[in-house]
Amino acid sequence: MAAIHLRPTGPDDKNVVWHPHAVTRVDRETCNGHKGALLWFTGLSGSGKSTVAGALEQALHALGISTYLLDGDNVRHGLCGDLGFSDDDRRENIRRVGEVAKLMVDAGLVVLTAFISPHRDERQKIREMFDVASFIEVFVDTPLAICEARDPKGLYKKARAGKLRSFTGIDAVFEAPQQPDIRLDGQQLVTNSIAQLLYVLRDKTIIEP
Ligand code: ADX
Repeated sequence: MAAIHLRPTGPDDKNVVWHPHAVTRVDRETCNGHKGALLWFTGLSGSGKSTVAGALEQALHALGISTYLLDGDNVRHGLCGDLGFSDDDRRENIRRVGEVAKLMVDAGLVVLTAFISPHRDERQKIREMFDVASFIEVFVDTPLAICEARDPKGLYKKARAGKLRSFTGIDAVFEAPQQPDIRLDGQQLVTNSIAQLLYVLRDKTIIEP
């Protein structure tokens, strides 16, 4: 899409003043019985982000953790329905999701996001919006050839046939994380990935041992 999107960093209007409310994030976390946090899944289309994030959400839900999963394909039906796949639109997509995730973490939820999020600097900007303990970058590391062989939506086939432009991994960039907090082997069993993720969440005292 050709739309131009502004990237506000805060209100220019000096008459817009932050209002501190009485109920805080800590109050909400206490009520929930666990801390809020963001697990940011990144990886190629077909890498398994949504599958693993969905399975983790189920596992957390079973443990009584309050969660929310923001998924690229779903969010693009609503909040980001006006965005396409140009670099600018992808950056705006990720910025909006980062802001929404920030509100949800402030609400005391364990938030999971599954977006390709191909730009390293854009992921870094999200990281900087959170304290160190609350942000976990999860790289679902699946080789392009495997994602292409899976091709669950037939989009790689379309891209190779020249019927879909700017497709990540084919004619659009994916900048893999250099130092993700968690690297998941995208070809391992989902149950192994979940065990790995739960271990880190316990280690970071986001959920109880
Ligand atoms: S991102 O690049 O802006 O982070 P996002 O995760 O929201 O992407 O959406 C990716 C999903 O949109 C893919 O899983 C795929 O189903 C679909 N899609 C449609 N067109 C493209 C494209 N050109 N590149 C990548 N994914 C696309």
